[in-house]
Amino acid sequence: MAPQDALTGWDDKDNAEAYVAFTRTHPMYNATSRDLACRGELIDADLVVDLCGGAGATARAILGLVPDRARVVSVDSSGAMQRVGRRTLSDPRLSWITAPAEQLAEHVPDSSVDAVVCNSAIWKTDTLAVFAGVARVLRPGGRFIFNIGGGFAGVHHPDEHTVRTGPSLNTLIHQVAARDHGYTPPSKNKGTAPKLPLKTVTTELAAAGLAVVGTEVTAQHGTMAEKKAWLSIPVFARPAGGGFTHAQRMEILDAAYALTTPDTVTVTSWLVVVAQRPTDRS
Ligand SMILES: C[S@@+](CC[C@H](N)C(=O)[O-])C[C@H]1O[C@@H](n2cnc3c(N)ncnc32)[C@H](O)[C@@H]1O
Repeated sequence: MAPQDALTGWDDKDNAEAYVAFTRTHPMYNATSRDLACRGELIDADLVVDLCGGAGATARAILGLVPDRARVVSVDSSGAMQRVGRRTLSDPRLSWITAPAEQLAEHVPDSSVDAVVCNSAIWKTDTLAVFAGVARVLRPGGRFIFNIGGGFAGVHHPDEHTVRTGPSLNTLIHQVAARDHGYTPPSKNKGTAPKLPLKTVTTELAAAGLAVVGTEVTAQHGTMAEKKAWLSIPVFARPAGGGFTHAQRMEILDAAYALTTPDTVTVTSWLVVVAQRPTDRS
């Protein structure tokens, strides 16, 4: 049986606290949230959904752009993430719904939403079901803005190649785990196809009645120190397999990090997608 640590996921209190502590001290989720919210044309919005909103980093970015009269609804399946969000982000315009993204249309009226924003999560969902629900709740002309991690979308920003100076922390973690624990990484031949490339996204959005109106591959620049902090959040700790406890993963992380220079620049690529419900739909 897998050790208890390996079973922790999003709906875990310690994970939620670690995630929020990371978003407070490092720019990654705030920056990507702001980027998506800015693409939503929210200046005149009445109702915006923060889908897979977690503890509210994206809701905070949305609230910074919408008018005083607007309402923002943050939907996430993790009660643990939302409990931290309720405690740390209080705004009369914001409400929280604990529900899977796939059930969005059961909680929000049809054709009522100006924009749905989903930061750093869409590939974790059943996209066919989510896109269908988003299409139902968006008003004609309403926007759906989301991003996909570069690895999941199969995209690389050019900066990934020009800035990189050595092996990634993830690579070093796997090397240390192999060296110190006899860990065998999963075969490189298995599962290398990107999980959610733009072609699939476009087809699935079209099936739901949504059109892609813009895409961009963006780069987020960070440091090795930020990567280490991110890999300390239990859901992101590596190696994912191998039956390691969280404490063991943190030991491996420390050993891998010792092989790096903390202020080395790291680049994370994202595929940003802006979709829209056509205005001429009946
Ligand atoms: C990386 S966090 C992003 C949270 C927030 N958007 C942000 O930028 O901080 C991913 C979130 O997706 C949520 N999530 C994953 N799958 C989900 C699903 N099918 N339905 C609802 N939420 C989901 C997790 O609970 C978690 O809060």
